Amino acid sequence: MAALGLAVPALLWLCLGLGSGRAMAAVPLVIWHGMGDSCCNPLSMGYVRDLVQRRIPGIYVLSLRIGSSLVQDVENSFFMNVNDQVREVCSQLAKDPHLKGGYNAMGFSQGGQFLRAVAQRCPSPPMFTLISIGGQHQGVYGFPRCPGESSQICDWIRKMLDLGAYTQAVQEHLVQAQYWHDPLKEEDYRKKSIFLADINQERGINETYKKNLMALKKFVMVKFLNDTMVDPPISEDRLGLQQMDKAGKLVFLGVEGDHLHFTEEWFYTHILPFLQ
Ligand SMILES: *[C@@H]1O[C@H](CO)[C@@H](O)[C@H](O)[C@H]1NC(C)=O
Ligand SMILES: *[C@@H]1O[C@H](CO)[C@@H](O)[C@H](O)[C@H]1NC(C)=O
Repeated sequence: MAALGLAVPALLWLCLGLGSGRAMAAVPLVIWHGMGDSCCNPLSMGYVRDLVQRRIPGIYVLSLRIGSSLVQDVENSFFMNVNDQVREVCSQLAKDPHLKGGYNAMGFSQGGQFLRAVAQRCPSPPMFTLISIGGQHQGVYGFPRCPGESSQICDWIRKMLDLGAYTQAVQEHLVQAQYWHDPLKEEDYRKKSIFLADINQERGINETYKKNLMALKKFVMVKFLNDTMVDPPISEDRLGLQQMDKAGKLVFLGVEGDHLHFTEEWFYTHILPFLQ
């Protein structure tokens, strides 16, 4: 009896200890929003953050804000040099004490390829799993429509892309030009794309990029089967992905629906398991 009396509290203590240990061990999540969006819109990234936190209580979720206000964050998703954005994010991540032990990352639309650049360029703190939701890893050629109320900005962007996506001025100031991939101008793309051609190794192989990307535990790519916003919706790349595929690290998911349209149920069934 006495032994049992001791054993029960000890067991209880152990369970509580394990329980809180597990909560503490929830791998933090870093989110990067898409074009025209911000870190904290309750209908987009705020909603995703809630979805995750509801099922993984206590998880630290960092939704990236680029700039010092929400307005700047939205503007920067159109007009800030992506290489500078990635650099800023790398420094944000390195300074965040919650992320010291590593983190998972989830990028929406262009945020998908931007976080891949973070994985390739900034191995510390380590990114474990990268989930790209509707990203454009091989770029876009076409700009069918824009989210929300940004259609005037979009008309202007379309004009700039037509005028000269690969001119230096447009490259440096227009985010979408930095992942513009014109199949009729492969040579220009290869030489002048300051972001996508670099992270996709179009100007030669940077072994560091390859090594860093291959250090991911999983790279999950979600494609929207009825995407009317991303053109073309099929992306591929040539960055050690074959080896990752052989090692079972690549996951391709297709989801019915238009760009970034998914249900709560789909998210919980297909995405949440990668975060637990
Ligand atoms: C390769 O990538 C690393 C990480 O971003 C960078 O420090 C290095 O300068 C790159 N090397 C070349 C040859 O571009
Ligand atoms: C979406 O695309 C899939 C695959 O092409 C197709 O089977 C499905 O019917 C489409 N759904 C809608 C609502 O258009």
